[in-house]
Amino acid sequence: MKRTYFNELAPRWDELPAPPDAPEKVAHFTALAVPPGASRILDVGCGTGILVEHLGRNCAAFTVELDMAERMLALNRARSNGPRFAHVCGDALHPPFAPGSFDAVLCFNVLPHFEPPERTLCSLVECLCPGGLLSVGHLMDSAALNAFHASLGGAVANDRLPPAPELAGLLESMGTEVIRSEEWEGWYLVQARRS
Ligand SMILES: C[S@@+](CC[C@H](N)C(=O)[O-])C[C@H]1O[C@@H](n2cnc3c(N)ncnc32)[C@H](O)[C@@H]1O
Repeated sequence: MKRTYFNELAPRWDELPAPPDAPEKVAHFTALAVPPGASRILDVGCGTGILVEHLGRNCAAFTVELDMAERMLALNRARSNGPRFAHVCGDALHPPFAPGSFDAVLCFNVLPHFEPPERTLCSLVECLCPGGLLSVGHLMDSAALNAFHASLGGAVANDRLPPAPELAGLLESMGTEVIRSEEWEGWYLVQARRS
């Protein structure tokens, strides 16, 4: 159901309204989420490729763009063709990668859509190498985003972003070390390192 929802949204995704400072914030998120020297990155729920330009600017890492909606991924491919990018259509609950495959896992604007969120996060933590960094980012605080999803209704009506301290606690219970947990109007970022 959610896959259908995002496939239908794909052709309009890049035209949807965004805050005027979104490009700077996306660049900031990407810069914080890619550790120096990272060589393998997983961009989860990559959509049409909002992070692609910034990933290209920040590092020379090999990046896997992962999304369950094939129409999102098709648009993404047009932005990120070339040997530094691979495109995988699949659910983050069952990422088709060996444990420890990535130095950084980026979840930008996607966590509330995971089903179920806890198990999906566990699967993504497993994708990290020891010392690898998981980053969860949004351009809204959790209360605003949850109200927004409720107002949209349909497939995403109940998709919930936990307050940053709650997500930080969940990630700690998975054995990661939380290195950043911040949330205010127009910004949300939780980062955790796999031990
Ligand atoms: C709100 S959009 C964000 C897209 C992109 N990150 C952006 O900020 O423009 C969420 C994206 O995540 C994808 N998605 C949602 N749940 C997913 C899951 N469990 N596994 C993989 N992709 C998922 C959707 O298909 C959609 O493209």
